[in-house]
Amino acid sequence: MTMTVLGPLPARSDVLDVVRDWRIDSLIEVLGQEKEVVDAALARLDYNRDLRPQLFVPPSLGEVPLAFTGPHSTYVCVNQKGGAGKTTTSVELAAAWIAMGYTVRIIDADTQDASLSTEWILPNYEGIAEHERYSLTDVLFGRQPLDEATYETSIRGLYIVPSGDHLGAVEYDPAGARDGSLRKAIRQSKADVDITIIDAPPALGKLSVNGLIAADQVIVPLKVGALDKSALRKLAETIRAVQEDGNPELRVAAGVMTGYDRSNYAGIVAATLRRDFPEAIVASARRNVRVAAAAEDHLPVRVTDPKGTTTSDYDQLARLLLPVKGATR
Ligand SMILES: Nc1ncnc2c1ncn2[C@@H]1O[C@H](COP(=O)(O)OP(=O)(O)OP(=O)(O)O)[C@@H](O)[C@H]1O
Ligand SMILES: [Mg+2]
Repeated sequence: MTMTVLGPLPARSDVLDVVRDWRIDSLIEVLGQEKEVVDAALARLDYNRDLRPQLFVPPSLGEVPLAFTGPHSTYVCVNQKGGAGKTTTSVELAAAWIAMGYTVRIIDADTQDASLSTEWILPNYEGIAEHERYSLTDVLFGRQPLDEATYETSIRGLYIVPSGDHLGAVEYDPAGARDGSLRKAIRQSKADVDITIIDAPPALGKLSVNGLIAADQVIVPLKVGALDKSALRKLAETIRAVQEDGNPELRVAAGVMTGYDRSNYAGIVAATLRRDFPEAIVASARRNVRVAAAAEDHLPVRVTDPKGTTTSDYDQLARLLLPVKGATR
């Protein structure tokens, strides 16, 4: 198998502005009120300034990039809504961090037949007999340690834990994923990886909650155009519940508006994310038709469309979330 090596991008002209003062905050007060009230608040915004794609850093966050608190750090991309951009965000952040010198493992925790490890980033099973190919399912039923289910991919520095055929059983079988067993499995891993990213399924069941218990940081991708305010509230409540009971260190690092377009509606989505996750960076990943095609090539968009907005938007977000590996302030 040939290996793709990821490196820094050439300087770009279309990088997004990083802002700390975002007048979209004025929308938060009127969310949920009568349409006329919301429209009036929208009319007070400067369309070109306030609704253009940008990266918002909450003033409370202090310095960016945030520090790498490793030796090892775990992120979970979570949203119970299907098609929110969890998998795309997992892969593109991973690719960007690899280009910054990190080694990244993605855990495919999606129960759907068509998931990251079956459709997009494939494990390299070369030389491994079929009955010795392990998956997250084996890990969560206690049959294998995580490192036995961690495989190389065609990208140097990117490893994948496939979901396995019967991962769905974890949700209803009491023997699967008991008491935060994913957290234990990650902690016991001796693999030489700096960052683990968990790509959660579109449900707030045991797998997503296990991901939240295992993680240091949460990333919430949200498809612009498919905002479900009550689902987002429920997700925020679930995250707070895990913080209160089991993982007090967990923090929400970023909300990512995927498929971002400049519209009043995108403004409402941004304000809703700000309201529910006030501590998080809010990022936009602009709408790009070439995202879907990357899966067919079994490569990150960073490789198939290096000059596109998706590559540049995730690259910028990755560099706000972490410094280049080994860099000191
Ligand atoms: N920035 C973008 N522009 C255009 N399309 C995008 C963008 N990001 C993601 N998509 C597309 O949206 C769809 C859903 O994305 P993705 O699979 O990452 O979401 P998901 O949350 O992982 O979905 P699921 O809940 O099914 O696991 C895919 O077809 C993907 O190609
Ligand atoms: Mg997915």
